[in-house]
Amino acid sequence: MKAPDNGLIHVSEDRVFNLSNQRISYIFRVSPEGILEHVHFGGAIASGHGLSAGPRREFRGAVLEFQGIKHYQLDDTPQEYPLFGTSDSRQPALHVLNSAGNTVNTLLYKSHEVSSTKPKLPNLPNARGGNSRTLKVRLEDAVSRLEVTLSYTIYEHHNVVTRSAEIRNAGTEAVRLDSAMSSCVDLPQGEYELLHLRGSWSREFEVERVGVPQGRFVIESARGTSSNAHNPFLALMSKGTEEQHGDVIGTALMYSGNFAIAVEKNEFESVRITVGINPFNFQWRLEPSEIFSTPEAVHVFSNQGLDAMSQTWHGFVNDKVSPPQFSSKARPTYLNSWEAAYFNVNHDVVLGLADKAKALGVEMLVLDDGWFMGRNNDTSSLGDWQTDVGKFPQGIEETARQVKAKGLKFGLWFEPEMISKASQLYTAHPEWLIQVPDRVLSTGRYQHTLDLSRQDVVDYLFECLDSFLSTGLIDYIKWDMNRVMSEVGSTALPASRQLEVPHRYMLGLYRLVGKITSKYPNVLFENCASGGNRFDLGLLHFMSQGWVSDMCDPIGRLSIISGASYLFPLSTLASYIGPVPNHQNGRVSSVKMRKEVGFFAAARGLSLSEADLESAQEEIIDAISLYKATAQDLVEGRFHRIKNTGNEVCWQLNSKCGGRVYVGYYHVLSAPNLPFRRTKLVNLDASASYRLQCRNTNFGGDALMNLGFDLPYIDAMQEPDDNGDGHRMDPGDFVSRLLLFKRN
Ligand code: DGJ
Repeated sequence: MKAPDNGLIHVSEDRVFNLSNQRISYIFRVSPEGILEHVHFGGAIASGHGLSAGPRREFRGAVLEFQGIKHYQLDDTPQEYPLFGTSDSRQPALHVLNSAGNTVNTLLYKSHEVSSTKPKLPNLPNARGGNSRTLKVRLEDAVSRLEVTLSYTIYEHHNVVTRSAEIRNAGTEAVRLDSAMSSCVDLPQGEYELLHLRGSWSREFEVERVGVPQGRFVIESARGTSSNAHNPFLALMSKGTEEQHGDVIGTALMYSGNFAIAVEKNEFESVRITVGINPFNFQWRLEPSEIFSTPEAVHVFSNQGLDAMSQTWHGFVNDKVSPPQFSSKARPTYLNSWEAAYFNVNHDVVLGLADKAKALGVEMLVLDDGWFMGRNNDTSSLGDWQTDVGKFPQGIEETARQVKAKGLKFGLWFEPEMISKASQLYTAHPEWLIQVPDRVLSTGRYQHTLDLSRQDVVDYLFECLDSFLSTGLIDYIKWDMNRVMSEVGSTALPASRQLEVPHRYMLGLYRLVGKITSKYPNVLFENCASGGNRFDLGLLHFMSQGWVSDMCDPIGRLSIISGASYLFPLSTLASYIGPVPNHQNGRVSSVKMRKEVGFFAAARGLSLSEADLESAQEEIIDAISLYKATAQDLVEGRFHRIKNTGNEVCWQLNSKCGGRVYVGYYHVLSAPNLPFRRTKLVNLDASASYRLQCRNTNFGGDALMNLGFDLPYIDAMQEPDDNGDGHRMDPGDFVSRLLLFKRN
């Protein structure tokens, strides 16, 4: 077999599929029986030797043999899209109740095609193609009359393979999908660990790392949103992997609803990753000739540890996932009204904040919750998207016009998917809520979810948003979503289709955001869900940035940014300097610390009252001017996690050209007589020299990477670092220092 050329995909005569770029390979083959067997996902394999041999077939006691074929045991055969019940007893990729009333199905290879264009998934977000090749492999079950097409895309410049599946009912009677996963990767026996991002409101993106035991470990959501409890991302790695070494397979689902990523290790220590829509509480009725398309799964491979995995995700998200018109566009600094005034907003308050914003050098004023009909607290009005004329007598348009006349951009908050029972919309359309008959509905923040599986609801919301955006006065939308789903059902669907509602909701949501964002491509959309309750690649495809957490205390944010950065580039993160004592955890921290943690996000701003803005005016002017001067580096730069002991965190950001290297060093709790700390930087030019600005000292790139440099020292007995030479931290708890190295 020839090595793949820059065509990226090579198919041998004996049907070995080799998807390779210069650095990674994804390889599978067709067994003599027609089963798609996984061969390899990892470092590049150009030679074809040994690839067509297939998995070992040996005698094993008390193990089933597929179709009675000697020693062919699917329980220990790595497969591409496995099914249950024909000698493989692990969780399958596909589970279908066929028209004969059983779930025994078998998929065999039929045909394949390779193309240089990457087809779009119907109604679902997907990574863009370009410098890529896509392979489609068609499998069939002649008995159940199921046809499955697996799609694989490999990229020349990214260490990424994307996968999805289409299931078609080629029979004459309906079948029921009980599970239709996007991808399955069966890995060889080995000692693995996994890392995933768990959390809750205001403590999103906590990193959890555990060894892979025998059995099944699942992260999932059944709440209707991808959720802050588990982000739809998981890294499976060789034991002992660190930031700079180790093999890692990262998996994420480009989807914003119920998902599951499972890692299963069986008695032969084979390890299976499955990813897709959560099979729990999911069913889909597929009529003859109908097709079900799964969301897209993205797999990345790094043989240089977690840092290289994150670099791959960051490059890929910027290049192929988030809206291209914003991916390298500096984000405006902003003043958001939420923690400045909460629901007490009106024309004068907004204009007052706008004056302050202008004087501080801020570029955009964002009017958050509280501006629409009767919305004085969170118990009412969601759904009634008309200006509260008591607060804004001449309409939001006039307020926006006056804000913009000051030379500021104007942004507006919406929570389109929600409805309050105390609203005109509910009186007119009680049937538009997500609901089941004869049950009292649970509430979340006093609100209910609109049924976006209904096209009339999607149309209504589009018109509401369009009526504001068509004025041309809005530069930015904060798209909020503050509750997860319960009592899930739709008044528009028959009983047999009620378990389809969560996925149909997502399809409706994607239709809505797809239509509105493509009609207004120059409006900056920010995805928010009580912070990061739906922060995923699915919505990032439409909205360039996300409100990663309501947690604005800098200590709380340290772990949130560290965690989110495993998958998400800084270009997608929004942050602001909020009030003290902090409204989420009560902590008091300096403006300096809030500014220097908030620095590591592309969309940066403030949410402070006029009084707070005044009392810290000088420091805030300084923060805003720093944010503006570095805005381009935040969207285009490369971020590295350098150190994280819990009490000490160190981050590095290199500008795109590498000429500026920002190092943030954060110290949580003080203690006496601490050891001196030194840290090594990464990804520098070894032969260049760099000047640490505040110390006026030169360092070789090789020295910074191999020897490191002295981190500022914390010592409560000493004077603070008055001359600003970056040798010492301020004394006390919650202190930070942002250092800048410039390449000479
Ligand atoms: C939750 C968001 O996370 C906050 O930033 C704010 O927009 C409120 N909702 C408004 O109700």
